[in-house]
Amino acid sequence: MSTSEPTPLRLEPRRTLLDAIRDECGLTGTHMGCEHGVCGACTVLIDGDPVRTCLMFAVQAQGSAMRTVEGLARGEELHPLKRALMTRRQCGFCTPGFLMLATGVLEREPDIGDDALLDILTSNLCRCTGYQGIVAAMRAVIAELGRSNGPA
Ligand code: FES
Repeated sequence: MSTSEPTPLRLEPRRTLLDAIRDECGLTGTHMGCEHGVCGACTVLIDGDPVRTCLMFAVQAQGSAMRTVEGLARGEELHPLKRALMTRRQCGFCTPGFLMLATGVLEREPDIGDDALLDILTSNLCRCTGYQGIVAAMRAVIAELGRSNGPA
């Protein structure tokens, strides 16, 4: 299921948002890592804010606008962040969480500085890259978006 339409679900109150996204909605792009709020692999955007879905009950998201990594799809064209991260060496497990964290950052603070960017990105865990590739990918996208928003 991939939709921008409201998705009605009937769930037990104790069901986590992560389980509802993956099992009830079939959106398996959101990854399950630690299930303890540590790794950030389960990050989605709720009303524009990054949220760890393993720590949230699905019922708490009722009435909110939620975006998962599937929501970054642009038909056949890759989202600029996905394209940028593809060129970096990563195993890919943490990528969906980073994509949603980075999307939230870029939408809220497109002129974010390197220190603040690194501070936010290190709230999610990546065990492969030491974050340098992820920061470089984000910097490339910020530069690309700056050019596309500039004078024609
Ligand atoms: Fe949610 Fe790790 S699976 S933070």
